[in-house]
Amino acid sequence: MPQNRTPLMDAVQQVIKKNPISFHVPGHKHGQLFDGASLAFKQHLLQYDLTELNGLDDLHAPEAAIMESQQLLTKFYRTKASYYLVNGSTAGNLAMILATFREGDRVLVQRNCHKSVLNGLELVKANPVFIAPTYDETYGVPRGVNVRTVREVWKQYDDIKGIILTYPNYYGMIYELKDIIDFAHEQHVPVLVDEAHGPHFVLGSPFPKSALQLGGDIVVHSAHKMLPAMTMGSFLHINSDRVSKERIEHFLSILQTSSPSYPIMISLEWSRLYLEQYSLEDIEYTMNMVTTFTNEIKKMDGFDILLGDDPLKLLLRAEGYSGFELQAFLEDYGIYSELADPYHVLWIFPLLKKEHTYPLHRVIDVLARLPKKTMFKRRVNKFFIQQVTELAVPIHQQQLETGEWVPLKKAIGQIADGMIIPYPPGIPLLLRGERITEEIIVEIEQLLMEGCHFQGSINKQNGTIRIMKV
Ligand SMILES: Cc1ncc(COP(=O)(O)O)c(C=O)c1O
Repeated sequence: MPQNRTPLMDAVQQVIKKNPISFHVPGHKHGQLFDGASLAFKQHLLQYDLTELNGLDDLHAPEAAIMESQQLLTKFYRTKASYYLVNGSTAGNLAMILATFREGDRVLVQRNCHKSVLNGLELVKANPVFIAPTYDETYGVPRGVNVRTVREVWKQYDDIKGIILTYPNYYGMIYELKDIIDFAHEQHVPVLVDEAHGPHFVLGSPFPKSALQLGGDIVVHSAHKMLPAMTMGSFLHINSDRVSKERIEHFLSILQTSSPSYPIMISLEWSRLYLEQYSLEDIEYTMNMVTTFTNEIKKMDGFDILLGDDPLKLLLRAEGYSGFELQAFLEDYGIYSELADPYHVLWIFPLLKKEHTYPLHRVIDVLARLPKKTMFKRRVNKFFIQQVTELAVPIHQQQLETGEWVPLKKAIGQIADGMIIPYPPGIPLLLRGERITEEIIVEIEQLLMEGCHFQGSINKQNGTIRIMKV
């Protein structure tokens, strides 16, 4: 291969050439939501890529511009302290877990969480008890946790040190978070909420209530997912005195780069201002766009479109097509979805202001071209079936990289040596140390057949996964 090639830049340029329509993260949608005061930033991005020069402050010891900017964030979200993250919500989740728990602590964890939560538990060597999510029959996806299950788990274990929840789920669905938080606080333990997909919830109706308003003790937001922030730009909020500010700051300084990106931090500041200036008319405008667009799709033969509790999350189904097939068809026409699953593609609608437009007519035209089919039988993927589980081999007894690779079928009944993660959404089907059930293997086989992308201890080429030698 000639050394003068630039395969990565070429690949991105290929996408740009298609004049793509974004229904995915980052939330600035090809920079469209950088306007007004941020226009110069968008146009001269690389000139803004500076380092900690005099006058530009230091993210790890802020005392001037960054301090002031984070104070504005704190004030806007009405928290005890809010921080810019330049290494994504991944860094936020790791920091909140490392700061709150100690080795051996029993922690209640919603099973359909992002891999960063599980990585945090591994780093701190906690002892997780997993609660399986409820299953949403209409949407065909795992939803959230109910307070009844949490109360039952409390009867089984008397040493739970805290709860980690994911709210909303990837599809913008919510659940009885307030009841769970109130119960946890009665038990004097903190609730850490990965609200990666809900940084805009503070805008109020029609968006659900934010975990910050519902009393979550630490809340992490992927600003880059739903707001006009650059990729990797996130927020961490401390929202109570039940958690240690000093420990959070300590772990953020360990986990985040020593060269934080000014463009990312500026885009975070812009996102805060964008929300602050987001008016009722803007909400109404965006909601009208969503309603008109989805009504048009509903009128088309063979399509169905559902809205999450967050109306910016749209789930599109096409009769006869799996989500993966539909995604591939749309991409041929330059329409990029956030993810595909066996049933749907997930679209993230932009948080538009009333002066913005979006080429939705092009999307309708493309959908009209989808060849009609009727044969696809939807399958049910209720794989998180057991309500409450613990790892078969606890984290502190696990040894890295000592396992062996075996064909999928042979792994049934064995213990997983590494996570198996469909990506996106990044919610592991199997965790290291978890017993491998037949249901999970069937699900993995199905997803492989459907062309799903995986991360973790799985070899797609020869259909093997790594199991622990115990
Ligand atoms: C629920 C959830 N939490 C955390 C993350 C990690 O966020 P980031 O990509 O900002 O590191 C993701 C990413 O998809 C996510 O979906």
